Amino acid sequence: MRLLKWFVIFFVTAAFANPEQDQLLFRQHYQKLFPKLKLQDYADGIYAIDADARESWQIIEEFPPYELAIEAGEKWFNEPFANGKHYSDCLPNKGIAISHLYPKWDESQGKVITLALALNQCLEKNGEKPLPYQKGKIAEILAYLAYTSRDKLINIKIPDTDPRALKAYQQGKQYYYQRRGQLNFSCAICHVQNAGKFIRSERLSPSLGHTSNWPTYRLKWGEIGTLHRRFIGCHRQIRAKIPEPQSDELRNLEYFLSYMGNGIPINGPSIRK
Ligand code: HEC
Repeated sequence: MRLLKWFVIFFVTAAFANPEQDQLLFRQHYQKLFPKLKLQDYADGIYAIDADARESWQIIEEFPPYELAIEAGEKWFNEPFANGKHYSDCLPNKGIAISHLYPKWDESQGKVITLALALNQCLEKNGEKPLPYQKGKIAEILAYLAYTSRDKLINIKIPDTDPRALKAYQQGKQYYYQRRGQLNFSCAICHVQNAGKFIRSERLSPSLGHTSNWPTYRLKWGEIGTLHRRFIGCHRQIRAKIPEPQSDELRNLEYFLSYMGNGIPINGPSIRK
């Protein structure tokens, strides 16, 4: 039975291996569920579909608690390393207004590079210690970089010059649809099939646009945190094995989800419950 299930998953992912087709079907599903929403509205996550929650969110946005993180991030970003080099020396356009272009396929490394990984690779290249991925300094730097990228449209490419890029995308897609954990849920069961419905006291957001608003200041965290921290939180909810932040699995998942969200504006950093 289990083997059969795997075979079906393999077959389905292999049969619809075309990312453009995936993207079309993914969006059509949400268009049917939420016919009033335009593509860019999905940047607001749950607040695009929950009018009451949206109202209190807009009040918090008047004095957004992530402002201090942006300031701190700008400071860290501009502080030179011990060797006098900067993050900006490692990044295209010196790191400004580039968040919508990540994650990126890197042909020479043969893997998906998220902006968080690019920052840590820059530190290591310059003889500095990498930063922990879920919160703190890296979340603040990412908040500043996202802020400089606000309103830029997510634009993720899966280059057809390197078949490994498509494979990474497919692995991300498979991860998204695969059931896991003691509760045996996939991401899709909550965020596709049940988007807009309630689970306990929480309404479930659509996955379309899930990568647009990061990092986010969660009231529950009382601080700013990264997308992979949130991915990990969703694994906890279903009592699944917790993957490492920035592992191949989660970077490929981010690649898949970001590609689904192409054309949606970056509006990070953001606030969420
Ligand atoms: C049991 C249901 C459930 C499953 C399974 C689940 N999530 Fe979630 N997820 C939630 C809830 C509840 C929230 C908070 C409300 C919301 O924004 O949907 C959330 C929030 C999120 C957010 C934040 C959205 C935002 O706007 O800030 C992301 C990203 C996310 N989930 C991704 C995933 C991914 C990827 C998976 C699979 C690895 C997954 N989730 C599996 C229930 C689930």
